[in-house]
Amino acid sequence: MNIRALDLQDDGRTPPASGLLEIVQRGLRAQPKRLPSWLFYDAQGSALFEQICEQPEYYLTRCEIALLQVHAASIADRLGVDVRLVEYGSGSATKTRLLLGHMASPVSYVPVEISPEPLQQSVRRMGESFPQLPVQPLCADFTRPLRLPIPPRAPRRTVIYFPGSTIGNFTPREAVTLLRKMRGEMGENGGILIGVDLKKDVAAIEAAYNDAAGVTAAFTLNLLARLNRELGSDFHLAAFRHRAHYNALAGRIETSLVSQREQKVRLGRAQVAFGEGEAVRVEISCKYSPEDFASLAAKAGLEVLRVWVDPERMFSVQYLARAGSVAR
Ligand code: AVJ
Repeated sequence: MNIRALDLQDDGRTPPASGLLEIVQRGLRAQPKRLPSWLFYDAQGSALFEQICEQPEYYLTRCEIALLQVHAASIADRLGVDVRLVEYGSGSATKTRLLLGHMASPVSYVPVEISPEPLQQSVRRMGESFPQLPVQPLCADFTRPLRLPIPPRAPRRTVIYFPGSTIGNFTPREAVTLLRKMRGEMGENGGILIGVDLKKDVAAIEAAYNDAAGVTAAFTLNLLARLNRELGSDFHLAAFRHRAHYNALAGRIETSLVSQREQKVRLGRAQVAFGEGEAVRVEISCKYSPEDFASLAAKAGLEVLRVWVDPERMFSVQYLARAGSVAR
């Protein structure tokens, strides 16, 4: 079973290996109830996420791709020549292709992905677009220490690419831990290229997580459908509702599944009770001002060397290196 070292609001001390049932039991016995957001991404959840990215309200993907379309050359220039590009998550082929298309003699592309199918897909896609580029897939959980494959030739620098504002799904404390881990993996001369969603008008943020077509709601509810499929639970999907609300103080979207009535649901050999209006926290999506993110990076021993922002200041792509490093 796949298990992330950094569960949602993990204290970093949870035991590493346990099955789906144990993870869900732990989350639903906690008070308040919660489930880790990586549980969204089974085959159906991943397909629903692709659909979210096409919704008019979900500006994140659109803005990030637009940013890359305009700035790919200057970003690639900043990364330099003979780079080994390590991507956290299987990633959208569009973004990675835009970037690699502008990079000068990349040494290799290392997609890091926990589930084998999307990993194979990204290997195939990159092979089609860049037949000369060595692709070294790594099937692993990027929140845990990675053993990167030996590159085909010595890179000038290892750059970790972490697009999509997935960093927002971690609490600031968890994000610092993850950035620190990346800092170690990229080495002395390395860099991090990261997509970070920005603080903005609350209505625009809330709309992105409450699209009119209801795709995000279906994505959230699919988590319960997944538990029915994989654990034989009997969640009644119509008895739960998707709720995504912007917590301005914390600067984040908080997504929950809210029980519409008092009910009991089968979980393994036991049952879990839900009260009317009781919420299960399933995701946070933190938003950062450029200043917020720079101070987060500093806590991880990193320095922001460059920020690319779209004209409407919706989204950012940022390049980080070790703080005070001479390797620029
Ligand atoms: C892929 C984690 C960046 O938090 O915006 C989209 C996931 N959740 N709609 C995000 C998501 C609901 C997304 N990330």
